[in-house]
Amino acid sequence: MTVYGSFPGARPRRLRTTPAMRRMVAQTRLDPADLILPAFVREGITEPVAIGAMPGVYQHTLDTLRKAAAEAVAAGVSGIMLFGVPEDAKKDAAGTAGTDPDGILQVALRAVREEVGDDLVVMSDLCLDEFTDHGHCGVLDARGRVDNDATLERYAEMAQVQADAGAHVVGPSGMMDGQVGVVRDALDGIGREDVSILAYTAKYSSAFYGPFREAVGSSLTGDRKTYQQDPANSRESLRELALDLEEGADMVMVKPAGPYLDILAKVAESVDVPVAAYQISGEYAMVEAAAEKGWIERDRAILETLTGIKRAGGQMILTYWATEAAGMLR
Ligand code: PBG
Repeated sequence: MTVYGSFPGARPRRLRTTPAMRRMVAQTRLDPADLILPAFVREGITEPVAIGAMPGVYQHTLDTLRKAAAEAVAAGVSGIMLFGVPEDAKKDAAGTAGTDPDGILQVALRAVREEVGDDLVVMSDLCLDEFTDHGHCGVLDARGRVDNDATLERYAEMAQVQADAGAHVVGPSGMMDGQVGVVRDALDGIGREDVSILAYTAKYSSAFYGPFREAVGSSLTGDRKTYQQDPANSRESLRELALDLEEGADMVMVKPAGPYLDILAKVAESVDVPVAAYQISGEYAMVEAAAEKGWIERDRAILETLTGIKRAGGQMILTYWATEAAGMLR
């Protein structure tokens, strides 16, 4: 029997025939404006310091941070998220350097705002872990546990100094209960209704934060399992989401991104605010390491991870590749 043209009845391959065809029917398009660059700035250094586990990523000096911010603007990136790394001697139990108006993060916020003005959305990590000598995201009680409500008082103060230093957006990332509401009140209390909150809504206790601990010279021993979410849980993220929205989150974020695309998709389906995803240090390190060994095509892999995150519902993506990927997209 000869069958011409009638079998199989459906031929999805027709729409994959040429690059132009594939481009035309592509459902997800990455744009430089989807991307936000997380950046580290370290106090007391005169040259940038390479982060071993994140090839291509540096602890910046104030000068090189300004340059990185300017490059991000030129590449069409939307925002920058700043992390401060204080001198070791300035770390203490309360994370005082995090609320010092002359602390490294505040100094960096002012420098970046001076450099880019409003051309880039300038965001600050609002968390104590880079500034505490025990490395936890909050202050500890007498028994050594992270004290939720005492930590909220510190976050309130942090939000105010970050706003004063020029943050357009603050990103509370410590996973304390009530953090979004307290930060909103603190900002409104000093007349800064204009500063937005990007809430780390679903933040999982992840092994993939490993390289970040090197990046910020973390003092942590132990883990963050009593405040970050258990990777086994999904419904809990929707609960965190409802609370964050009720407390005044302007934008919500899922973190990490790659291993939690199901969570990202659920969150994106159920909200009417912008949704971000944070492709974290370990996600970056995995691709870089495999590419260095010649096991995967680096640039293609990078764009594939970012496309996957956007396809799942992450309309804004924090990624250490932001500036480079924006260049690839041009
Ligand atoms: C907390 C914070 C962390 C990251 C972003 N904000 C560290 C943590 O929760 O352990 C991790 C980002 C990354 O791994 O790229 N300040």
